[in-house]
Amino acid sequence: MTKEEALKTLEDLKNSPNMVKHALACGFVMRTLCHHLSSQSSDLPSEALAKEESFDLDDWEIVGLLHDADYELTNKSLDLHTEETTKKLKETGADQTIIDAIRGHCDKAPRETQMAKAIYACDELTGLIVACALVQPDKKLKSVTVESVLKKFKDKSFARGASRDQIKTCETELNIPLEEFTSITLKAMQEKAGELGL
Ligand SMILES: [Fe+2]
Repeated sequence: MTKEEALKTLEDLKNSPNMVKHALACGFVMRTLCHHLSSQSSDLPSEALAKEESFDLDDWEIVGLLHDADYELTNKSLDLHTEETTKKLKETGADQTIIDAIRGHCDKAPRETQMAKAIYACDELTGLIVACALVQPDKKLKSVTVESVLKKFKDKSFARGASRDQIKTCETELNIPLEEFTSITLKAMQEKAGELGL
């Protein structure tokens, strides 16, 4: 599957403009995380990497783009979520690693690869960062700082839907400290602020 096909899939599954923005944000962040983690993977013991580990930038971006592709279509039903996307991905002959990472973000497959762990952790953080942008006077991503995100991270009443525990798996599963993970994610989103409309 190509990035263009992934964008077309978002369209076919009738995603709202807001959902497309969430997809784009996660796609950009996943691409950046792929770059970051692949440069570190040579330091990891080989048993820490799954056999089917892939560090293909496009594949990682596609996981970000499509992880919630059927979320609105399946009416936010956790039982059905990712099933329609899985069907589409199988039709296009997409890599099983991509399918497993997407299913893994809502606990439908074990999160064994770095790719699967990355989408699980960054999905919620992109939501928290968008919420941080929306409370800035100019509502822009460029006004958001790592410090302000970390402060809101601790404020459990802010953006309640963004699971802090899930974001925190960046430390336990990816070995990236929260502050660094926030910095990488925020920077990736700020670079594409125009496309995200923020
Ligand atoms: Fe998501």
